[in-house]
Amino acid sequence: MKNVRLAIVGATGLVGRTVLKVLEEKKLPISEYVLFASAKSAGKKVHFMEKEYTVQELTETSFDSGFDFAIFSAGGSTSKKYAPIAASKGCIVVDNSSAFRMDPEVPLVVPEVNPEEIQNNHGIIANPNCSTIQAVVALKPLDDKYKIKRIVYATYQAVSGAGRNGVMDLENGIKNYITDKAYSNIDFSSIGKSSYELTKFNYPIFSNCLPHIDVFLENGYTKEEEKMINETRKILKRPDLKITATTVRVPVFNSHSEAINVEFEKDFEMEDLVKTLSTAPGIIIEDNFVEKPIYPLAINASGHDEVFVGRIRRDESVASGVNLWVVADNIRKGAASNAVQIIEKML
Ligand code: A2P
Repeated sequence: MKNVRLAIVGATGLVGRTVLKVLEEKKLPISEYVLFASAKSAGKKVHFMEKEYTVQELTETSFDSGFDFAIFSAGGSTSKKYAPIAASKGCIVVDNSSAFRMDPEVPLVVPEVNPEEIQNNHGIIANPNCSTIQAVVALKPLDDKYKIKRIVYATYQAVSGAGRNGVMDLENGIKNYITDKAYSNIDFSSIGKSSYELTKFNYPIFSNCLPHIDVFLENGYTKEEEKMINETRKILKRPDLKITATTVRVPVFNSHSEAINVEFEKDFEMEDLVKTLSTAPGIIIEDNFVEKPIYPLAINASGHDEVFVGRIRRDESVASGVNLWVVADNIRKGAASNAVQIIEKML
């Protein structure tokens, strides 16, 4: 058997550590793993695959020893600098950052949706944005069957998507609230407002919703909204598809929830649409309002790789449309698991 070597870049981060966890679960035929992070973490010990690994500093010569694959989860600037170096040395990079996603030469892959794109790589494969991945898993089978005319996205995104500092801002807000005991005064006007240092967000995330993810663009949209629009078009191979989006950070630790309104060219029968979704790869339907209310929940999706779909109901305001509530673990399916699944397909 060939000796397969995999580099994990950003192995100490939120996504990188989940990549290690998913690799432990999947037990892929990989013979050697090397863990990289910044100079700050060099020498750090990480327990992985029942062994102790020493984290190495990522440098321009890191890929000289010859790697088959690399998973990058260390931010856009690290990817921009080091992914081309890795690729030039024969390594196939699966990149979690947004650096190469819209490059026409770089496939943007969700294995349940467009696995055929993997073979078109020139050394770099991009992992889509977390909110896009879960959306397209649900939308692809519907597009194939009824041809999507328009999509309206509204997201409710967890703080884990903002990295370690995002999680810290929510934790600090909770700690502060408990210390203040604001609720016992029933003074809602003061909840969440007491001052504590924010490390990631512009405003407190605890007891709040922030309609602002990534930077603002000239047209008033945020970059996260633009990513959802452009990446959906690229993955579904529908460059002219009408899409709009509002992306919101909510005080949830993990798993993104999305309200998706879809309009179709063709008519559909509800039973047929639900069957189409339930038989599509990677989807679990959770939808009942008759006996007991059942719908996808962020706390239940966390720790899983499937995309959970519920609240499926006809949009009665248009000729052919449906509303969906789509929930998935943004760190697993939205980043780490999707990247490992791409490597699994190549193996
Ligand atoms: P480090 O822990 O050494 O800073 P998160 O998104 O959770 O903050 O994680 C970011 C990940 O990217 C971490 O593993 C971090 O390593 C890594 N990283 C950041 N900058 C670099 C860099 N210049 N070279 C390699 N890894 C980096």
